[in-house]
This record gives sequence, structure tokens and C-alpha cells, in this order.
Amino acid sequence: PAARPLAGKRAIVTSGPTHEPIDPVRYIANRSSGKQGHAIAAALAAAGAEVTLVTGPTREPDPAGVTVKHIETAREMLAGVEAALPADIAVFAAAVADWRVAEEAGQKLKKDGSGQIPSLSMTENPDILKTVSGLGGTRPSLVVGFAAETEMVVAHATEKRARKGCDWILANDVSPATGTFGGEANTIHLITGAGSEDWPKLTKKEVAEKLATRIVEHFSA
Ligand code: C5P
Repeated sequence: PAARPLAGKRAIVTSGPTHEPIDPVRYIANRSSGKQGHAIAAALAAAGAEVTLVTGPTREPDPAGVTVKHIETAREMLAGVEAALPADIAVFAAAVADWRVAEEAGQKLKKDGSGQIPSLSMTENPDILKTVSGLGGTRPSLVVGFAAETEMVVAHATEKRARKGCDWILANDVSPATGTFGGEANTIHLITGAGSEDWPKLTKKEVAEKLATRIVEHFSA
């Protein structure tokens, strides 16, 4: 096989959490280390793709040979992804906050001694995977999403693939006993239009490399 089998292909990867501001010093976020998304960006780059990684705040270093856009909010992540189009491949590994505070306070919310407790009014964030899956002419030909599931993993992920309109779903068993969040190993089922594949328990780097191999096979089929 070619040394750089994805040469000439453009890829967009999202990674990490998003941070949604409450006021200038507080935010709402998802738990995400960014390890899986960053490893996927690195694996696609190693296979020769021209990769843009759009990432929320993480402790992961920028992968070598990848264009990295650092963002904080879901809206910024969507804008970063749209700015990186067109692409052949899009892999959405970010843990995007589903909701944000409807009106960010301009000043720090203060505990004023009256015992009054603020309540936050929320509004929905854009669904980046669903938005990009539904694009017309600029839709990447292979759109891959993740599903973190704690039970009935393949059934729920198959339903999610249809609802999001993406091509593949990597369904990740994240029941608390598996230690997936922030840990090194993932148990993945790959859901495609042809059915589902069970992968053995792999490190996040191995998952990234196996996904890159499957993507190479997809484009050479
Ligand atoms: O709906 P749910 O969050 O479970 O879907 C997970 C998949 O959708 C992941 O691939 C995630 O990156 C993507 N997603 C997104 N934008 C959102 C929510 C989820 O791209 N607002």
C-alpha cells in the first residue's frame, strides 16, 4: 500500500470539550480529555491527509503536521469547521455542550448576601455533526460521528446514525465501569450503512489508527 494513502484528501476533526460562558469567570463544560480526537487528527495526518483540527480547551499538545484552530464555544467550533470546508473527511470527536446560557452576563454574578440564587436560562447549541451531515454540495463525502453509550450500544448508535445523517458512527461503551473518560482504552463498535463491526478493546491511539485504516479502505474500495 502507498506510504501516504490519504495524500490529496482534506480532513476536518473536532476534539475536546466546549466551554460555554455564564459570566466572564464561569463556564459550563463537558468532560472530555481531547485524547481521542487529537489522536485521530494525528493518524489521518500520518496517512497523508491535510488535516484541520478544531479543538476546545484540552491539555493535549497540538499534533505535529496538523492545522489547529483553538476555540471555546460550540458556535465557534461550528464556525471553525465551516471555515475549513471543503473537505473529503470529517470526524466529529468533540464533546460539544448541548446547551449554552441564553444571555451571558457582562459582569461576574455576585453573591450579594440577600440569599438570592441565580437561575440560568439555557438555549440550544448548534449540532455540528448534524449540520455538516445535512450540507448540500459542500458535504464531506465521509462524515463520522461518535456516540457515547452506556447500554444497548449498537442499537442506540444505529438510531443515532440515522438521526444525525452521518455515514459512520463510532459507538463507544462509556458505562462508568469501563473507565473510558480520560482513560487510555476504548471499546468501539463501528456502525456503517452495511452494519456493525465490533472492535477489541484498544487504546485511543489504536482506535485512531484503526479508523484511519478503515478510511483508507473506504476511499480505495
Ligand atoms: O447527540 P450526541 O451528543 O450524543 O452526539 C454525539 C456526536 O455528535 C459526536 O460525534 C459529537 O461530536 C457530535 N455533536 C456535535 N455537535 C453537538 C453535539 C454533538 O457535533 N452540538
